[in-house]
Amino acid sequence: MRRIKLKFAGREVEFVDRDLALRLVEEWAERGGTYPPVQVIYGPPEGCGKTAWLLQAVELLKDYGFNVIYINPINRLALAEVSTDNIREEFLNLIKEAINQNALAKVAWIAYNVAYDLIKATRGKIAVIVDDAFQAIGIKESALYVKALLNLIEYPPEHYEKIVTVAATSEGVSLREIGRHRWAWSTPMWNMPKDSFEQLYDQIPSNKPPFEEAWRITGGNPAMLESLHRVNWNVDKIVSMLIKEKDLSYGFVKKWLIHLREAINDPDYLWFNAPEELVNELIERNLILYFLPKRDPEQWVDQPPPEKDLELGIGKYVAWQTPLHREAVKRALESVGE
Ligand SMILES: Nc1ncnc2c1ncn2[C@@H]1O[C@H](COP(=O)(O)OP(=O)(O)OP(=O)(O)O)[C@@H](O)[C@H]1O
Ligand SMILES: [Mg+2]
Repeated sequence: MRRIKLKFAGREVEFVDRDLALRLVEEWAERGGTYPPVQVIYGPPEGCGKTAWLLQAVELLKDYGFNVIYINPINRLALAEVSTDNIREEFLNLIKEAINQNALAKVAWIAYNVAYDLIKATRGKIAVIVDDAFQAIGIKESALYVKALLNLIEYPPEHYEKIVTVAATSEGVSLREIGRHRWAWSTPMWNMPKDSFEQLYDQIPSNKPPFEEAWRITGGNPAMLESLHRVNWNVDKIVSMLIKEKDLSYGFVKKWLIHLREAINDPDYLWFNAPEELVNELIERNLILYFLPKRDPEQWVDQPPPEKDLELGIGKYVAWQTPLHREAVKRALESVGE
């Protein structure tokens, strides 16, 4: 398999590691396709590397002889590794038109329609990868969308050989909506494991903090590593940006002062003691991952996080998305200063 090239920290880097996650794609390709039929992958930690992995998966599935459709409405990106020329052309034209009209939700439905056409035309091996579409189509419609994909697989217009269907999201909220349904099955993805993260860190030019420090600050989140590189490792700047982006206002922090103080020391406090309203707020703001499954590699895409690592903000049931997210809350708490 060719390792794809990715833009990272202003340069081209080769896709690193994620061996278990790629092995999972191989299993789907070798077996009868994905089972459960639609794989919903969620990776809050935002920026943990879902898109990079899925783009590498496109390459891998192509090697296995799949016709692959990939869309990412938020990044305005679509790929069609498809053997039928007219389907590919029509797909790319429709996507272009939808993107020009800023009709991002439409992009997801175009992918659905093309999957339908591909089943009819090829009756072969088909992969549909829908990356970051839930945000574009809205929470309620996301559940409908996953159900439509499922129906397509279970009641196809023609018999087909194999189908791989993956939908990825970083939004805890959309996941909840989808998770309410019997047919939805989701698997989480965590930040990069330490050794893989080091391989990425090594590709960043000099003028960087020692690796252990980069690991401790980012918890292995590649997007955070890239952001830090962009601001010349000015951690304060990233933390201030997060405080603003996550709307950690004086009122919010003051309201939840007692609970947040506990949660920054041990996120599992949120599991056992915190009001549901606060938990919902933290999920909505993409600050925490709530309800972490058992650290069994079967239940995760790629390597699971450690059982518990309070230095990185990881509890048994709840984790801060990265140590920087926790730091933003900590800093906001300090500014309330009571
Ligand atoms: N395995 C990897 N090898 C090389 N670069 C990677 C790898 N994983 C992630 N990156 C890089 O790290 C950055 C963040 O990753 P990516 O965009 O894939 O995360 P994401 O989980 O899709 O983020 P979001 O939640 O915003 O959708 C990107 O620049 C990406 O190219
Ligand atoms: Mg992404």
